[in-house]
Amino acid sequence: MAPRPATGSASVRVLGIETSCDETAAAVVDGARPVGARILANCVLSQVAEHRPYGGVVPEIAARSHVEHLDGLITRAVDEAALSFDELDAIAATAGPGLIGGVIVGLVSGKALAAALGKPLVAVNHLEGHALSARLSDDVAFPYLLLLISGGHCQLLLVEAVGRYRRLGTTIDDAVGEAFDKTAKMLGLGFPGGPAVEAAAATGDAGAVPLPRPLKGRPGCDFSFSGLKTAVRQALAQQSPPSAADVAASFQAAVADVLADRVAHAAAMARQQAPDLSHLVMAGGVAANRALRTTVADAAAAARLSLLAPPPELCADNAAMIAWAGAERLRTGLGDDLAAPARARWPLDPDAPPPAVVAGLRS
Ligand code: KG4
Ligand code: ZN
Repeated sequence: MAPRPATGSASVRVLGIETSCDETAAAVVDGARPVGARILANCVLSQVAEHRPYGGVVPEIAARSHVEHLDGLITRAVDEAALSFDELDAIAATAGPGLIGGVIVGLVSGKALAAALGKPLVAVNHLEGHALSARLSDDVAFPYLLLLISGGHCQLLLVEAVGRYRRLGTTIDDAVGEAFDKTAKMLGLGFPGGPAVEAAAATGDAGAVPLPRPLKGRPGCDFSFSGLKTAVRQALAQQSPPSAADVAASFQAAVADVLADRVAHAAAMARQQAPDLSHLVMAGGVAANRALRTTVADAAAAARLSLLAPPPELCADNAAMIAWAGAERLRTGLGDDLAAPARARWPLDPDAPPPAVVAGLRS
């Protein structure tokens, strides 16, 4: 078995590899440094231009592009960190969830590198990368409430410790980022949709188009966005449709309202397990949205929680959060997963009950 850095050792320099979707990313993080000095290199190569003609991510194109670019990006990250490969303490690679072809590319590269260097390999759950990113940027202490909003996920979790996540709510249909992307497509704003919708919304009237707030006020903290997407389509199908800016602003306001409501419910649920809860962390690509940050911060404050949101480059997919999660796992004695499989699906809380709404429908 490869040597593992001793717990509490001065340096935990981890190379992170991220290939689960359409960003090829490599980064080096020193887990023993203070906030602000931890990220030694953070290289991201977006494939957006390759997928744009298709209006979404094409898994085969993504996997092939990762194969083409990952080696170069890893070399660049280690160079930028001014380290040699021998000076790394471990390799951390995303092992899922995500597009399986891409996940395999990154995980196999990480394993090969770890085996060749005789260093531990940490197989990281991409969602854990997002979940712990606020500890990389802000040193937030456990436990905290996490609003994880990305292109593939929309969940509220109580983060109790590294590797210990309690899911309080999740989406019963689309992820919030997916709703942004589909709305952008309907508005002809292109791909990726989130930043385009946010930009269009800045000049629109959020009260112009009446849109639903799915599950708002319902017990629990699950989400649903497919009805909102349908309502946007119906608004645009009218004889004299509203402007793209008004639809974007109204859509964003509806999402903000729903997130605020669900956060309020989640805070009450989380306090039953963690009465001293003091922070809400907002992470994932959609957390880069400034309007949503403002509304969620207000909802958090009303629930006596301070909002922490990592900077946008740590919200979108990146390898620094994967390297950091690797460092956290090593520090807690977890990791060294040379035999870990690549997984398309990998819930953070495998024991979570199904969403309350879905369970209600079944009973
Ligand atoms: O976390 P991420 O980079 O990848 C996944 O793990 O899914 O999130 C990507 C998602 C996309 O749906 C993208 O449209 C959305 O995050 N996004 C945004 C913004 N920036 C990225 N959504 C709303 N507003 C933004 N500014
Ligand atoms: Zn992500």
